[in-house]
Amino acid sequence: MDYYIGIDIGTSSAKLFLIDENGNVLQKCSEEYKISQPEPGFKEIDPEIWFQAVKQGMKRLLNEINTKLVKCIGITGQMHTTVFINEDGESIRPAIMWNDTRTKEYISGLKEKINKYKEIEHIGNIISTGSPAVNLLWLKEKEPENFKKMNKFLIGPDYVAYRFSGVMGTDYCEASTSSLFDLVKREWSLTMGNIIGLSKDIYPIIRGSSIVLGSLKDSLAMEFNLSKDVKIIAGTGDNPATSVSTGCLENGYPVLSLGTSGVLMFSRKEFEPGVKGKHIIFSADGKNFFILVQGVVQSAGNSFSWWTKDILNSVDFDCETNNVNLSELGKGELIFYPHLAGDKTIYGDASIRGAFVGLGTEATRKDMVVAVMEGISFAVKQLAEEMKLESLSNLKVTGGGGRNKVWMQILADVLDSKVEQLEG
Ligand code: XUL
Repeated sequence: MDYYIGIDIGTSSAKLFLIDENGNVLQKCSEEYKISQPEPGFKEIDPEIWFQAVKQGMKRLLNEINTKLVKCIGITGQMHTTVFINEDGESIRPAIMWNDTRTKEYISGLKEKINKYKEIEHIGNIISTGSPAVNLLWLKEKEPENFKKMNKFLIGPDYVAYRFSGVMGTDYCEASTSSLFDLVKREWSLTMGNIIGLSKDIYPIIRGSSIVLGSLKDSLAMEFNLSKDVKIIAGTGDNPATSVSTGCLENGYPVLSLGTSGVLMFSRKEFEPGVKGKHIIFSADGKNFFILVQGVVQSAGNSFSWWTKDILNSVDFDCETNNVNLSELGKGELIFYPHLAGDKTIYGDASIRGAFVGLGTEATRKDMVVAVMEGISFAVKQLAEEMKLESLSNLKVTGGGGRNKVWMQILADVLDSKVEQLEG
C-alpha cells in the first residue's frame, strides 16, 4: 500500500493530510500561524513561517505510521501570494499576500498601459490587487533595493515545494492567474515582463500540476524518516484543486468555495475575453489543457467571522444561527453589504467597503446575523451574473461556510438553485 501526503498552505494555517492509495484519510493535522498587517491594507507573511509550520505538522502526521510507505507529496494553497527570492535561494522580504490591497493605486495606470498592447489586453481585464504582476511592480517602486536583489519570484505554496525539492516551479493555474502569463500562447508574457521591468530569468518553471518537480531533499528525508525517493509534485492553487476534487473540472458544474473569501468556479470550453472573472488554465499532465473561470467575493466567510466572532464575541458560528427559523427567512428588510475589504471581480475596486442599510431599533442580533449571510449570498449571485454563468441549477459548496445549514438554505433561496454541501 502506498501513502501520499497533501498539504494546504492556507491563509491562517497549514493543513496536512496523509492518505492511502485508495484515497482514505489516515491522518490529518493543522498548524496555525499569524499574518502580519504592518500598515492598513498590508497583509504579509514570512514564507519561512509556512515551512516551519509544515515541518512541525509533518512530524505529527508521520508519528505513528510506517513512513517508508510514503511515495509522494503534493502541495496546494493560497493563490497569487508573491514570494521574492534572492540569488542564494532565500526569501528577501515577507511575501505579499493574495488579500493585500497596498497596490490599489497602481491598478488603473497599469491597465491603461497593458490595453495598448492588443496581444495581451486580456491580462488587463484580470489585473487586481494581490496579482503577482502588481506586487512585483510595487516592490520595484517602493523597495528598489529588494527588487535589485531578486533573482526569482514564487507563488505561495510553491515556496514550500521549493524548500522540499530545491526546484523553483509552479503550475499552469498559478502562472495563468499571475497577470504575467499569456493565456493564448500559454507561456510567460515577456511583453508584460517588459512593462513591469522584469528580467527574463525571474520566472519559475511551469509544470503540469501532477508532474514531478523533484525529489525530497536528503536532509529532509532524514529528518522525517522518509525515503529519499519521495517525489514532490508541482501542485496547484487551492481553488483549482477544489475544482478537481469536487468534479467541477470534469463535469462542468459550478463550485463555490466558501472560506475566508467566496470563490465561484466553473469550467468553460473557450477562452472568453471581456467577461468578468479570471480565466485559469489547468493542466494535470502538461499536455491536456482545460479552462476554468474563477471570481471572488473578497470577504465572504471573513465578513461572517468579523460579525460573529470579532463584533458579537461568539464562540462559534452555529450558536448564532441555531435559533433561526428557516420559514421566516427572507422577511427582514435589513441589508448587509459584504465588501469589507474591497472587491476584485465585481467592481475591481480595493477601496469599497461594507455597510448595514435599513437599520431600525427593531433590528435584533438574529436579524443582523441573517442579513450578513444574505448579503454574502447576494454578492455570490451578482458574481455569477457578472461572470456570465449560463445556468445555475446545482451548486456544490465547500469550505467552512458550507457546513452551516441556515446559510446554505439562504444561499439556495437567493440563487434559486439546489445547493449541495460537500464534506471535505
Ligand atoms: C482567489 C484567491 C483566494 C486564495 C485563498 O483568487 O486569491 O481564494 O486562493 O487561499
